[in-house]
Amino acid sequence: MNSNKIYNWGILGCGKIAHKFAQDLQSIPNAKLQAVASRNIEKAKDFGDTYQTPTHYGSYIELAKDTKIDIIYIATPHVFHYENTMMCLNEKKAVLCEKPFAMNKAQVSEMIQMAKTQNTFLMEALWTYFLPHYEFVLQTLKGNQLGKIKSLKADFGFASTFDPNNRIFRKELGGGSLLDVGIYPLFAALSMIGIPEKIEASANFGETGIDEDCNMTLHYKNKVSANLFSSVIQKTETKAFIQLEYGSIIINSRFHEPSSVTITKDGDSKLYEFPVVTNGYNYEAIHVQNMLERGNIESTVMSFEKSLNLIELLDNVRKEIKLEY
Ligand SMILES: NC(=O)c1ccc[n+]([C@@H]2O[C@H](COP(=O)([O-])OP(=O)(O)OC[C@H]3O[C@@H](n4cnc5c(N)ncnc54)[C@H](OP(=O)(O)O)[C@@H]3O)[C@@H](O)[C@H]2O)c1
Repeated sequence: MNSNKIYNWGILGCGKIAHKFAQDLQSIPNAKLQAVASRNIEKAKDFGDTYQTPTHYGSYIELAKDTKIDIIYIATPHVFHYENTMMCLNEKKAVLCEKPFAMNKAQVSEMIQMAKTQNTFLMEALWTYFLPHYEFVLQTLKGNQLGKIKSLKADFGFASTFDPNNRIFRKELGGGSLLDVGIYPLFAALSMIGIPEKIEASANFGETGIDEDCNMTLHYKNKVSANLFSSVIQKTETKAFIQLEYGSIIINSRFHEPSSVTITKDGDSKLYEFPVVTNGYNYEAIHVQNMLERGNIESTVMSFEKSLNLIELLDNVRKEIKLEY
């Protein structure tokens, strides 16, 4: 292990989440934000100056070709994840790409194949998986002291004012609740219970054709079920409630970001807190660096198989609600 190595990061797309990620990179001693790329050079310069970034590009391909860069974080709207990832992998750059990994399973499969062909690291930025409170919940479930899961309820809703220019409402950018935030309750179900046997789903559509909210029920063996909800027009608690044989686990609001956990057993409740001083994106970034340190092209946590399962579930829900892009 070469623990002295400084990892040179590049950010592709200078939007909202890119800022949060750049802030968190600053908390990692052996990470450096070496370059940023925007479709607009002035925007790249402004973004880069905020984080003392030496190199700014006015096109994405220049970043992909920069030989100083070890890892590129892709933070563009969903519909561009596939082409941006393929371009970076083609230049043999490790890629951490925002969720959803791409628009459908066929695209994700091609991205994974490309990572294998190029022998280059690729991971979906499902940051929740790497957060301390979420790891604690998965460990607790594994420990089995509360018995088997009987049901899960998870939601993620926020209230956006309608704006046809906001990517959330733009169908051509992959807008809508399912791909943007519904992915988190679905990820919770997959990571806690696994692949369901049957899915039921319904959605309400807005004037731009995006799903404004989506109700999903996943059915598993032995009458286990998951009731999931996503919305971009109503703020919901954004909690995960897991009912088990001998107690319950609540991932308090908002469950997908740094949070606390309440465990109830035999009528006694205990709150577990996991103070995090960053936005929480440093955990996934450190994991990527650790994977590169080991020479892995695939994450040991958010593996190719897990990303394929997640996109397949999203595709299947989309079939149920008749949402086509
Ligand atoms: N992990 C999380 O917690 C989290 C949170 C929010 C979002 N996300 C994911 O991150 C991605 C970006 O979300 P965001 O909220 O940061 O979006 P955003 O603020 O709209 O930023 C997206 C950026 O993509 C670039 N872009 C390239 N082509 C574009 C086009 N035709 N139209 C608009 N932008 C274009 C733009 O950067 P330039 O102008 O610099 O080229 C833009 O600033 C989404 O896939 C979303 O699911 C993840």
